[in-house]
Amino acid sequence: MFSKLVVALALASFSLAYGVTSPGESQNWTTVGPQSATWKRESTDPKTFAAFLTNEDRKALPQNNQLLAGSVDGTTGRVQFEPPQGGWPEGNGFRVNFCRDADSPEAILAQSNDFTISPSGVGSGGVGPLEGAPQAQDLDVHATEKSNGAMARGAFEAAKDGLMGLMGFLALMAV
Ligand SMILES: *[C@@H]1O[C@H](CO)[C@@H](O)[C@H](O)[C@H]1NC(C)=O
Repeated sequence: MFSKLVVALALASFSLAYGVTSPGESQNWTTVGPQSATWKRESTDPKTFAAFLTNEDRKALPQNNQLLAGSVDGTTGRVQFEPPQGGWPEGNGFRVNFCRDADSPEAILAQSNDFTISPSGVGSGGVGPLEGAPQAQDLDVHATEKSNGAMARGAFEAAKDGLMGLMGFLALMAV
């Protein structure tokens, strides 16, 4: 009982930092157009960060730590990265690292899960007709964050509220 509490507290303190909520397995990127990332931030986190695209496979990413954005406003929770010069690479095993600044790819504040960059529109990074709608697709992302209990529940509630709003909106449209 007590040890469970200790583990819960340890996990809770881990969550008090930048946490990349997308991209990841449940939200891949495409090679077409800007691609988005979302995250959670605590007030103790640095206000800005630099975002790097990484991959251990040099065939997928000939030069590692490709800078996507030198200074992202961490308070916004969401950013769209323009395609790098020469376009997006393609393949599996990509991660986005949030780092201290553009000169410090080794000073990692947070790291996304593995994701794929594919040429089609499958698993798009959020460019599409539903872009403005409540982020129902984020439900998947948060549901997988089992270690992040309280925050995931909060995000789930927020997503649920968004869904309720969407349903209300659709109900209005149907009248
Ligand atoms: C993302 O890509 C991985 C690997 O190709 C795949 O297993 C996963 O189902 C994809 N997720 C989505 C939401 O398309």
